[in-house]
Amino acid sequence: MLDITRVAGKLTFGMAAFLSVLVALVSYRFVPVGVSEAMDFVAHNLENNALALYGHIAVAPVALALMPFQFMSGLRARRPGLHRWMGRGYVAAILVSGVAGFVLAFHTTAGPVATAGFAILAVIWLGTTACAFLFALKRQIDRHRRWMLRSAALTFAAVSLRLYLGIAMAFGADYDLTYVIVAWVSWVPNALLVEAYLLGRRRSRAATLLPAG
Ligand code: HEM
Repeated sequence: MLDITRVAGKLTFGMAAFLSVLVALVSYRFVPVGVSEAMDFVAHNLENNALALYGHIAVAPVALALMPFQFMSGLRARRPGLHRWMGRGYVAAILVSGVAGFVLAFHTTAGPVATAGFAILAVIWLGTTACAFLFALKRQIDRHRRWMLRSAALTFAAVSLRLYLGIAMAFGADYDLTYVIVAWVSWVPNALLVEAYLLGRRRSRAATLLPAG
């Protein structure tokens, strides 16, 4: 029989994976034409923050592109070595681009509220990813999975941000105000959704472990 929940889950994952790889690839549009042409609103960083800018825009897309593959159970089971190497790549990419993103946050032209949104995101992106990595090293796989989900929800902020900006622009919203709002809305709901999912899973596990009656 057709399991609707399973099919919906697979479709959602497929769509999220597709968008992640697409946004990662499109981010490299600065390679053929240069930063000033491709993303003029961050080009001011070229003067004093070129290292942070390139460290972020060249490396963060690697984390985003690798992320969905880490959740493919078939791939993980068939090629555990590849899973570990891609995991190391994901962590290294976040280490570099997270620190660079933190620096960039203090140079955004969108103002202090956007700075706070991006800077806090950078810190917890680095923190959740570090926890996921450390639990993998300790072979505490259940904890590793939980922290990877948290990290991935934040990595996915790169997709959410562009989706929300695009939708808001299509409805004629004010760009500057929308940008400040999405500096928060691109990641806070993602993080809360993952917490709600993990809580639900913990509760249903606890319920199945309770003796009947
Ligand atoms: C999740 C943590 C992240 C943080 C804290 C962060 C932070 C930032 C900041 C502060 C800027 C400059 C924005 C401005 O000056 O107004 C920026 C731009 C950018 N970020 Fe991130 N970022 C993150 C994740 C990612 C990921 C996963 C990607 C992968 C595609 C990415 C790709 C870019 C690109 C391409 C830009 C240049 C502007 C654009 O094309 O939108 N970032 N990021």
